[in-house]
Amino acid sequence: MKIILAGARLIDPTKKIDAQMDILLEEGKIAKINSALLKSTKSKDAGKVKVIELTGMIVTPGLIDMHTHLREPGFEYKETVASGCAAAVAGGFTSIACMPNTSPVNDNRSITEFIRRKALEADLANVYPIGAISVNSEGKQLTEFWDLKEAGVVGLSDDGNPVMDAALMRRALEYAYSLGLPVISHCEDKNLSGDGLINEGYYSTILGLNGIPSIAEEAMVARDIIIAEFTNTRVHIAHVSTAGSVRLIRDAKKRGLKITAETAPHYFTLTDEALQGYDTNLKVNPPLRSPQDVTAIKDGLTDGTIDVIACDHAPHGRTDKELEFEYAQNGISGLETSLGLSLNLIREKILSWPELIAKMSANPARILNLPKGALSEGSDADITVIDPHLKWTVDIKAFCSRGKNSPFSRRAMQGKAVMTIVGGEIKYAAPSLKL
Ligand code: DOR
Ligand code: ZN
Repeated sequence: MKIILAGARLIDPTKKIDAQMDILLEEGKIAKINSALLKSTKSKDAGKVKVIELTGMIVTPGLIDMHTHLREPGFEYKETVASGCAAAVAGGFTSIACMPNTSPVNDNRSITEFIRRKALEADLANVYPIGAISVNSEGKQLTEFWDLKEAGVVGLSDDGNPVMDAALMRRALEYAYSLGLPVISHCEDKNLSGDGLINEGYYSTILGLNGIPSIAEEAMVARDIIIAEFTNTRVHIAHVSTAGSVRLIRDAKKRGLKITAETAPHYFTLTDEALQGYDTNLKVNPPLRSPQDVTAIKDGLTDGTIDVIACDHAPHGRTDKELEFEYAQNGISGLETSLGLSLNLIREKILSWPELIAKMSANPARILNLPKGALSEGSDADITVIDPHLKWTVDIKAFCSRGKNSPFSRRAMQGKAVMTIVGGEIKYAAPSLKL
């Protein structure tokens, strides 16, 4: 079936296109992009083409979340590959990269192949596994990078855990660079974060919760930058949460180093002040920080220091979260609120539309070397349709994700993905969109 997406505002930052255009999808690919496609096709192909009228909507390259935790194998009660993919397409994401902290850890070919097979069966979003840097993510012995690459991983990370051993990180950056695989660094000095639970500051003091100082993150960001510089390799800094990290990355980029970085919507939306109710849905690692940190994150997004918005989708079950604050697990189920929260950046004039779409599509594609993130004739028809005006309220019960752990429950949002097309097939369509 051919599909024409007609009348929408098409935004593709890679082509500097921001104009009303029609798109013809054929056999899973983008066949044509043209401002008057509908008129030229109407007469001869009538009946054979499904025309989807999208006036007032925004059409973008399929969104990519490069930092998602699917919990399969091992923690299927939190999320399966299939439920995570359903959450992805409902949130507007056509592709996700999934972190290796499953059980067993994705530190070998058989786990990578298992995840990819599950994703094919789910047949919703594209899933790109990230392999572990070290065996069982224990930070002691490197995994078989080449074998993991052959099995299909697109990057390496011990996310959830830092690589504390600087010598191991050095070897990881060197080997990974020679194979063209990005290393994604969870920056946390465990000696500094210790038994901390929330950001170290005023609120950790008055709430009586142990603090995680911002330097726990920054010391590792600095370390990874100097290792990348020394070895002339690259590193991607995951979930940047502090002003100091933004400054270090900005300075490194100015010096021409191959550093890229991401932040998550909760780090530019919330501060540690929100923790006063001890809501464990706000417990996340790195922790929510101060208003000064939030301002710095926004500045980093505006000036390009932060390349990517990735939601660090970390679904958990009730038994992981409905506990005393100390015992609850870290993480926010983010795929279904990420775009809605990120659209606030446009209203706040932090980012333009093309800048936001680049950080949620072209930039993660570039960092992970994916043939995605642009709307080109001949490329895979991975497309997100956004209704920029749609007002909706976050309803965790309606999440496709098994993880209902969202601090954004009942939050009013404006703007939503209303249709998600993967490989030319409509994998998600919001009820508000009359097809
Ligand atoms: O909050 C987090 N949750 N941070 C991490 O680094 C890991 C993640 C998880 O796997 O739940
Ligand atoms: Zn992490």
